[in-house]
Amino acid sequence: MLKPLYLREDDTLVMLDQRKLPLEEVWLEIKNVEEVADAIRTLTVRGAPAIGIAAAYGFYLGIKGCENASREEFKKRCQDVTELLASTRPTAVNLFWALKRMNSVANDPILPVHKIVKKLRAEAIRIQEEDLAACLKMAEFGARLIPEGARVLTHCNAGAIATAGYGTALGVIRKAWELKRIEMVWVDETRPLLQGARLTAWEMEKEGIPYRVICDNMAGYLMSKGMVDIVVVGADRITAKGDVANKIGTYSLAVLAKHHGIPFMVVAPTSTIDPALESGESIPIEERDEKEVLFCRSERITPTNAKAFNPAFDVTPAELITYIVTERGVAGRPVCKGIEKLLKDADKM
Ligand code: MRU
Repeated sequence: MLKPLYLREDDTLVMLDQRKLPLEEVWLEIKNVEEVADAIRTLTVRGAPAIGIAAAYGFYLGIKGCENASREEFKKRCQDVTELLASTRPTAVNLFWALKRMNSVANDPILPVHKIVKKLRAEAIRIQEEDLAACLKMAEFGARLIPEGARVLTHCNAGAIATAGYGTALGVIRKAWELKRIEMVWVDETRPLLQGARLTAWEMEKEGIPYRVICDNMAGYLMSKGMVDIVVVGADRITAKGDVANKIGTYSLAVLAKHHGIPFMVVAPTSTIDPALESGESIPIEERDEKEVLFCRSERITPTNAKAFNPAFDVTPAELITYIVTERGVAGRPVCKGIEKLLKDADKM
């Protein structure tokens, strides 16, 4: 199973450098929290669940070595490490969710510090294992909803390398392919950083799933010609009423899908749900360096004086979404009610 990162016995965090794919498969050896923060910021590791997992490992690497610290020193170190990791990317809530989980272990008032450090290592590994289990569950739930012989359109990369392994949207596609429900996959190239053309195409290639890459502006044409049966995407943050932040361009696809009567499926673990936010309006949208738009890889594609705008995500309102697939079950239309129920059931557990 393809995993984008794992912690070795000697506490080295081994991480696939996603910036180099698909041309080179480079594995980095990361030793400290500063390097983890940098890897998240630069999209060396990316995709909401993988960012959360990286943050958990980063937290552990950041407090490792504090075994003999006083409780006060340990507390201060936890705060600093949390601040550093939390400052890397604002949109994917999995990052903050993972930091919260790590901090709740770190805040144990009774256990001695050296034992807490050990527990934190185990907690980070558990976060990764739980995400993998969630991906496998979502794949089971989602694959059943894929129409027979489907031509599926996906955006960005919500695959194995964006999670603990297997993927969210691509997990559903993998499973549906295994069940022979899929004819082929349309892969949106996903400008500006080309996560579709570089990463999703690379994963499809590895799986032997037939696919074609399209430019982002081709989806409407394909839909109007009856060439898309379902859209399947991941998410970075889902509000309590089912609004979904995902890679820029997702909202346009949802509007197009609605216009053409095509089902629109979002696949994400419950760690991507932010129950504190009601509406998508309040989701912080990351704005990245304009160079990502002005250049394509290292080549400038605009006049030298050109300026650009580079929001990395957009918000798709709940009413445009047909299904939100989570590891706890599927929220169908209206997804706001479904999400409410999933959250209520979780409270009872
Ligand atoms: O900027 P990125 O590459 O981290 O954006 C990734 C996405 O938008 C994914 O669709 C989302 O995080 C889900 S990954 C399972």
